[in-house]
Amino acid sequence: MKFFIDTANLDQIKEAHELGILNGVTTNPSLMAKEGIKGQEAVTKHYKTICELVDGGDVSAEVISTDFDGIVEEGKKLAAIHPNIVVKVPMIKDGVKAMKWFSDNGIRTNCTLVFSAGQAILAAKAGANYVSPFIGRIDDGNWDGVQLIEQIAHIYSVQGYETEILAASIRSSLHIVKCAEAGADVVTSPLEPILGLLKHPLTDIGLAKFLEDAKKFQ
Ligand code: E4P
Repeated sequence: MKFFIDTANLDQIKEAHELGILNGVTTNPSLMAKEGIKGQEAVTKHYKTICELVDGGDVSAEVISTDFDGIVEEGKKLAAIHPNIVVKVPMIKDGVKAMKWFSDNGIRTNCTLVFSAGQAILAAKAGANYVSPFIGRIDDGNWDGVQLIEQIAHIYSVQGYETEILAASIRSSLHIVKCAEAGADVVTSPLEPILGLLKHPLTDIGLAKFLEDAKKFQ
């Protein structure tokens, strides 16, 4: 399973990249706004910086247009920023048409705002490279986000779809583990749940004891 970081914050992207386990980055308009990035020039510069930071990893950049022509124009501009940009397109009717257009024209896409298996089937049929089920937001509504990952993984395997399942809207380290178990190809997570995977009290206790005992033979 690939690890993406779900942020537009450069320090956090650097920290995850330095761990050596990062395969890419996902952003969305809310995450870009959080970093105070304003205006086309600043947005383009920020995406370019992220692409250079992760060096070869995929970087999802989201369109804000909602009509076919607008999505295609915006997507072409985003894709021209850097070869590693993946155009993030919402699961709406014109988004599906645009993803098919991008797929026919060699531009990679990530279908975002996916909340059902039916939507994931449409994304695959449209030729999306990634499909992003938002599992945390599903859990927030008292449904089971991880179960949706399992269902999509089953359908994609039975049907032979090549679209990669990118589990998004991650809220905890346990979500990451459950997504790995359920068959996600990629998980995109904020930094904290990724770092949380490191933690176990027995590791801390065991290390303290080893370091204590090491003093005896030094
Ligand atoms: C990533 O592709 C999504 O935009 C993101 O994971 C959504 O996360 P949220 O539900 O925490 O906003």
